[in-house]
Amino acid sequence: MQIQFSKNTIPSNGTVVILIAQEAKAKKASLGKIAKVLDKKLGGGISKAIKTSRFDAAQDKILEIIAPANTKLSRIVLLGIGSPLKATAQTFKELGGGLTKILNNKTENAFCIVDDIDVKDLHKEEIAANIGMGALLGAYKFDKYKTKKKDEKPELKELVILTEKADKAKAHYATLSKVAEGVLLARDLVNEPSNVMTPIKLANEAAKLKALGVVIEVLDEKKMQKLGMEALLGVGKGSAHPPRLVAMFWNGKKTNKKADACFVGKGVTFDSGGISLKPGNNMEAMKGDMAGAAVVIGVMKALAGRKAKVNIAGVIGTAENMPSGTAIKPGDVVKTASGKTVAVLNTDAEGRLVLADALWYAQKKFKPDCIIDIATLTGGMLTTFGNNMYAGLFSNDDTLSEELTNSGKKVGEKLWRLPTDDVYDKMIDSPIADMQNMGNARGASGTVGAKFIERFVDKGVKWAHVDIAEIAWNEKGTALSPKWATAFGVRLLDSFAADYIEKKHKKK
Ligand code: BES
Ligand code: MN
Ligand code: ZN
Repeated sequence: MQIQFSKNTIPSNGTVVILIAQEAKAKKASLGKIAKVLDKKLGGGISKAIKTSRFDAAQDKILEIIAPANTKLSRIVLLGIGSPLKATAQTFKELGGGLTKILNNKTENAFCIVDDIDVKDLHKEEIAANIGMGALLGAYKFDKYKTKKKDEKPELKELVILTEKADKAKAHYATLSKVAEGVLLARDLVNEPSNVMTPIKLANEAAKLKALGVVIEVLDEKKMQKLGMEALLGVGKGSAHPPRLVAMFWNGKKTNKKADACFVGKGVTFDSGGISLKPGNNMEAMKGDMAGAAVVIGVMKALAGRKAKVNIAGVIGTAENMPSGTAIKPGDVVKTASGKTVAVLNTDAEGRLVLADALWYAQKKFKPDCIIDIATLTGGMLTTFGNNMYAGLFSNDDTLSEELTNSGKKVGEKLWRLPTDDVYDKMIDSPIADMQNMGNARGASGTVGAKFIERFVDKGVKWAHVDIAEIAWNEKGTALSPKWATAFGVRLLDSFAADYIEKKHKKK
């Protein structure tokens, strides 16, 4: 999908989309300057169509006028934005995403006029750029394995956004599109089947960020053995595909090399449950159990792509969890790189084992003050939140929680904080090792998982754990995220880096 920006003139042919605001009191469509000019040209065709159809310009509502008289235009689409008082950057992203769905199968290219909209805290160029980013995200497809195209219907390939200061819009879009590229990369990694996206392949994909100036280190199984990472290695022991650990560093502040924060991702390329085998139903979704790692790779790409003035490290632990004669078994005890021992009661609670060693390495190598891990950790998130509503947030720091929650709200990746009281910590004490990888009682699996991870966080380090189980993929699709991989977390962490690290740095 090509997104272009051009100066605002009403096009003479093709498809044109015009954003229309809703009047606050009367709750009806209010035509802006450009729409009025076009209406006149059409002999009142637009206002008549609005009247007849009762189009009220509520958000996402559309009115399509096909082959309007007195012009060579093939169609005019009026796209409601709702009240401009309520519209935010996120609103325009969602409108842009929705737009691609409206136009797809109808036309290969279209124009979109945004200048009829006045929003208090948003310049026209920002509106234009956000529409563009939303369109890019919404138009995402993963169809590389389809050898035949479905039908002959036209596929939307180009959206030209028309605005007075097109160059300024383009400059603003340049940054946003880098973040979108990180999202698209993460989606591609998650959507790939696990026979392709093995731990080695995932590590290679991360290593490609070298081209953007990200410093990369890949640990193979021998190096991990030397460091004593029995937990991470244990998860991969049943698989024909060996595990990897990747450390990435984006040194955006040229003045120093200290990491402001470190993002750590769970990269289980397929989670069969291991010897504690999962039921067959829906097991195919477990190719997405590396979504946390994909998000970390995606956000590193976004930060490097937009040359963010932050120092951020990313660490991913990646392995395939399979049952076999060499697999780790329930009751086995492993020693993590930190020295702490774990009794593995359930081989399906493997994510926390991977994260235990990845967190240790992240802290040893980068010594960050703040660490955020992201993982498809517990199926309990579905019970807690329902499908695709929130990701679970667990943290030892109120400020960090608030910052992450705010960042999530801003970009439409919502977090809800769940308890981390110490009573839950006792549940993972083990009679034979330092801890066990699940509780003895049922329930609160998200919190119990978080408490396990917390045991590997060094004293004084601000830590948050984001559980993206059930939100990392999406069976239905939304305006900004078509079916399956959502890459939930890339925009959240990018926005956190921008608002709470980059801005602080600028102030100093
Ligand atoms: N990868 C799963 C969690 C998951 C389930 C993610 C469904 C997305 C959708 C994780 O490794 C797992 O199996 N967790 C177990 C832990 C339990 C055995 C303590 C769970 O949540 O059931
Ligand atoms: Mn599992
Ligand atoms: Zn898992």
